[in-house]
Amino acid sequence: MQSIDEFLSNNRSWASKMNADNPTFFSKMAEQQNPELLWIGCSDSRVPAEIVVNAQPGEMFIHRNIANQVIATDFNCLSVLQYAVNVLRVKHIVVCGHYNCGGVKAALARQNPNLVITNKWLMHIKNTYRLHQAEIDEQETETQRVSKLVDLNVIEQVHSLSHTSIVQEAWDKQHGPVLHGWVYNLDDGLLNSLITINPGDDIPPIYQYEPI
Ligand code: CO
Repeated sequence: MQSIDEFLSNNRSWASKMNADNPTFFSKMAEQQNPELLWIGCSDSRVPAEIVVNAQPGEMFIHRNIANQVIATDFNCLSVLQYAVNVLRVKHIVVCGHYNCGGVKAALARQNPNLVITNKWLMHIKNTYRLHQAEIDEQETETQRVSKLVDLNVIEQVHSLSHTSIVQEAWDKQHGPVLHGWVYNLDDGLLNSLITINPGDDIPPIYQYEPI
């Protein structure tokens, strides 16, 4: 593990190598960003967004929180979403979960008295468990139960994106973005796609905004 000073000295080495390889890299990057993808992932240190898809600076707009959730009252995530969709006009939004997710595991356990705030954040995942309880409980092992809820949580968050006014308005006016749900496997470093929702796909009427 790096010491805190090593993080800074590594940064200097990285910047000088980038500059040596491409002398206009930083000056061009400083002018503007034009990412085509918004990534909503878990905060987990083992799932570094750009690294697992080999993306370069400028290619991905990123929001991460515990267990990659899109919650209708979370102004942090919604602000990122609004900027990504309305200003950057990203073509794709990826919600990326991962197996062995500590947040999902915790949601399947009793509430931890030392984590009263985190418990509230995880409440939404407990609700997803309750929606799919039979399907999750029938899994043989604890690991399989967590994995099933990881998948279902990703799918739920992609649906949540489609329920936002931001996405529905963009579908109407920009014919994008496409919504994707992916899951990352810590054991082999591979991503798998679980769900794709395209602009204009059916949304249950109770989540639709009435045309103005
Ligand atoms: Co996680």
